[in-house]
Amino acid sequence: MLVTGGTGLVGLGIARAFLAVGAPAILVGSTASRAARAIESLGGKAEVALADVSDPAAIGPLFADIAARHGPPAVLVNAAGINFNKLIGETTVEDFERVMAVNARAAFLCSRAACEAMVARGIRGRIVNVTSGNFRYVRPGSALYSASKAALAMLTQGFALEYGRHGIAVNALAPGLVDRPGSTDPNFLAIADYYRGRSAGRRLVSADEVGEAVLFLASSRAAGMTGEVIVLDGGFSFGRPDFPRHA
Ligand SMILES: NC(=O)c1ccc[n+]([C@@H]2O[C@H](COP(=O)([O-])OP(=O)(O)OC[C@H]3O[C@@H](n4cnc5c(N)ncnc54)[C@H](OP(=O)(O)O)[C@@H]3O)[C@@H](O)[C@H]2O)c1
Repeated sequence: MLVTGGTGLVGLGIARAFLAVGAPAILVGSTASRAARAIESLGGKAEVALADVSDPAAIGPLFADIAARHGPPAVLVNAAGINFNKLIGETTVEDFERVMAVNARAAFLCSRAACEAMVARGIRGRIVNVTSGNFRYVRPGSALYSASKAALAMLTQGFALEYGRHGIAVNALAPGLVDRPGSTDPNFLAIADYYRGRSAGRRLVSADEVGEAVLFLASSRAAGMTGEVIVLDGGFSFGRPDFPRHA
């Protein structure tokens, strides 16, 4: 299993889930120091490949290197992503290009490289895209992030449609706010309170729960599922718990 963004909070949860069932994990990140910390936190059990996936020129060499070392991956998880919070009036063209490049174009290019290699080798593989609950709602400052995550959801369906006849299944997971145990960041804590207060389950999701859901989507148990976006948000986005009650 190859996971872009594998050195981050969510990516590490995904790596732990695969390693726990004995599946190899290759983590892609762009910074060496973060990658080293990630591998250490996994007890040295995963491999790492460094690449800036927002750079189209980096994708070919990344997949060639991985194929040479391990063979083409049967499972690709696109989890590399950047959060972005700016009102539309303050958002620059450079912001737009950067967010779309990391959150949507990188997944497009990595998925295409992986799918073409799977087709060439007859591998009936899996792609799992980590989008976000924001793919179907906006909050102030999230227009660009939400748009990039909606693009990823539609890419999921496009890839599922075009590569399905080769036995490749492509699905997406849309997590809500992922818990960061021990965080003292006041921004995170305020948003976490908001999520807890407005989710049916009064909870966040953990990175390990995201990992378990990705593992399911990559497994034969989900063999009949493709082109779907599964929301994992403790029941945050489907209802309006603070809606005024009729007297
Ligand atoms: N955390 C949440 O609450 C949440 C909720 C819903 C969805 N998500 C999604 O989950 C994914 C991971 O988020 P996270 O919370 O784990 O963020 P994170 O901890 O900041 O991790 C981001 C990961 O993406 C990598 N990355 C970013 N830009 C890259 C680039 N240009 N090339 C290669 N790797 C790059 C980072 O590595 P480097 O730093 O080395 O580049 C890191 O491994 C994102 O797609 C995010 O939108 C997160």
